[in-house]
Amino acid sequence: MYFSNKTVLITGASSGIGEALAYEFAAQNATVLLCARNIGELQRVKANIKSPCEMFVCDVTDYSAVDAMVGAILAQYNTIDVLVNNAGISQRGMAYETDFSVDERIMKVNYFATVYLTKKVMPVMIAQQSGNIIVISSVSGKFGFWQRSSYAASKHALQGYFETLQIELKQFNIHTLLVCPGGVKTNISKNALGKDGKPYGQMDDLQKKGITPESLAVKVVRASARGKRQLLVGRIEVILYYVKKWIPALFFKIVEKVKER
Ligand SMILES: NC(=O)c1ccc[n+]([C@@H]2O[C@H](COP(=O)([O-])OP(=O)(O)OC[C@H]3O[C@@H](n4cnc5c(N)ncnc54)[C@H](OP(=O)(O)O)[C@@H]3O)[C@@H](O)[C@H]2O)c1
Repeated sequence: MYFSNKTVLITGASSGIGEALAYEFAAQNATVLLCARNIGELQRVKANIKSPCEMFVCDVTDYSAVDAMVGAILAQYNTIDVLVNNAGISQRGMAYETDFSVDERIMKVNYFATVYLTKKVMPVMIAQQSGNIIVISSVSGKFGFWQRSSYAASKHALQGYFETLQIELKQFNIHTLLVCPGGVKTNISKNALGKDGKPYGQMDDLQKKGITPESLAVKVVRASARGKRQLLVGRIEVILYYVKKWIPALFFKIVEKVKER
């Protein structure tokens, strides 16, 4: 197994895709380090894991807490072999009605916190001349969509940043995988920020009918082990990506008419 005995740090590991990835890496006999804010949910996930596992209660936007977490990991394990940047929040609200604090918060969690943690881990991987970085972007990193202006912006930003890392880090034997899922059956829409910054609180059809986080996790771990650069997973959303790429006018015609937003 490719990730056997590797040290894997996963952000947003208390639920959804991050939780499923934790189980998938554990099944590979990796040492799994879980990071999120909700201590109760982290304990629940940790209790399900039989391979070596530790949890870190850490808000990724709290940079001194991130420094402390990375310091503690290096003191104990001396390495981070795999970094999974998964923590994120979504958005439901028209751009013209959304408070600017919501735009700032989404960029901070999804983009700046991801960059900050990655910058802490890159020197470790460069020194050991190996590593795998995985970033959970979205099809929203490929095209804009109703009510997700800053969410789409944050995921487009990740695309640019990590595509650059793919170019810069290959010389150090560090592989960077960008994952772009469509709808996945998690609580992402419930936890999404509404126009006033309050949780949206509803399970969208896109999530309800989405693929399972477990099936996505299997594909992500396999793609990273194979050194793939990009993984696009989903149903109609993936088709839309190709429509936008090849027939942009048709893409806008379709998306402007979407009722389920
Ligand atoms: N579900 C989808 O349809 C879908 C599609 C494409 C991409 N994605 C991406 O997949 C990733 C995971 O989302 P999910 O679907 O699994 O949703 P989720 O169940 O809501 O999980 C989000 C995770 O991020 C963590 N998180 C949020 N803010 C954080 C912060 N400030 N510090 C540390 N952890 C934080 C949450 O943990 P705590 O609340 O415990 O901190 C939680 O574990 C996100 O980046 C999302 O954009 C999801």
